[in-house]
Amino acid sequence: MYMHLLKMSDLNRDQLYEVLDLAVRLKAERKQGIPHPLLSGKTLGMIFQKSSTRTRVSFEAGMYQLGGQALFLSSRDLQIGRGEPVEDTARVLSRYLDGIMIRTFEQREVEQLAEYSSIPIINGLTDYAHPCQVLADLMTVREYKGGFEGRKLCYIGDGNNMANSLIVGGLTAGMAVSVACPKDYRPAADVLEFAKPYGSLFTLTEDRFEAAKGADALYTDVWASMGMEEEAERRRSAFKGYCIDDDVMAHAAPDAMVMHCLPAHRGEEITAKVFEEHADEIFDEAENRLHAQKAVLVKLMR
Ligand code: CP
Ligand code: NVA
Repeated sequence: MYMHLLKMSDLNRDQLYEVLDLAVRLKAERKQGIPHPLLSGKTLGMIFQKSSTRTRVSFEAGMYQLGGQALFLSSRDLQIGRGEPVEDTARVLSRYLDGIMIRTFEQREVEQLAEYSSIPIINGLTDYAHPCQVLADLMTVREYKGGFEGRKLCYIGDGNNMANSLIVGGLTAGMAVSVACPKDYRPAADVLEFAKPYGSLFTLTEDRFEAAKGADALYTDVWASMGMEEEAERRRSAFKGYCIDDDVMAHAAPDAMVMHCLPAHRGEEITAKVFEEHADEIFDEAENRLHAQKAVLVKLMR
């Protein structure tokens, strides 16, 4: 049994499907107005070292809907922001809380928090991974496509936290995964290693049309992630052309869905036209953050 969710490879296929199934149940119950106070009396601490709209609000609302509560802890206000070691923060917070969600820069910090805490730790985004987003993404693919077998997920853009987590999550779920990115912006080496045993189910190219060929779901993300603001200009030229536009859509399956973790930069990684034509999918995907994370909270904290 896993205790934390630090990265997608923490879940094997069975565990991944269990989370998705529970998310579907919680979503249906919420739509029917059936209360599910599965975490009554429990408190989640949410440490944020970066901005957030979706992650913060969906975790906070999710805890409330589960009968518990969530504390928003900005690193600007915590002693961690003044240099208190993560090891000490972990041991102290473990005495007050029932779980911690953390959004930060280095994956190492999240791993350290998990090492020293006695309560579940959830990665709410690092530079390396964004597992909560990918659980919502997989839930959305399954809703739209009915399953994963024989499906192809294509990611175009930066080999960042989203790419890393989508590769691992997509392959674990049972899909083929193709990635198109510039050669200096490839996904993490350990993720490419993870993909190796999947053989031809995983492909990495610099050609977005090749990657998009026959894809059932096309995914993209910003060219400059949080913390990379200074590189934005250089990245804009490096990524020129790594965009989901009508030309890419023409290479995908005729009924391909389009996904984006948001926030989106229209005119960069996706055209405004493609974004709006696929807004239903993109905002269902955003909604599913709530349901998928509630499932994670129940699995880890109950
Ligand atoms: N997709 C996502 O994590 O959004 P936020 O940065 O708004 O939380
Ligand atoms: N890659 C983006 C994802 C935002 C949800 C970032 O890290 O800023």
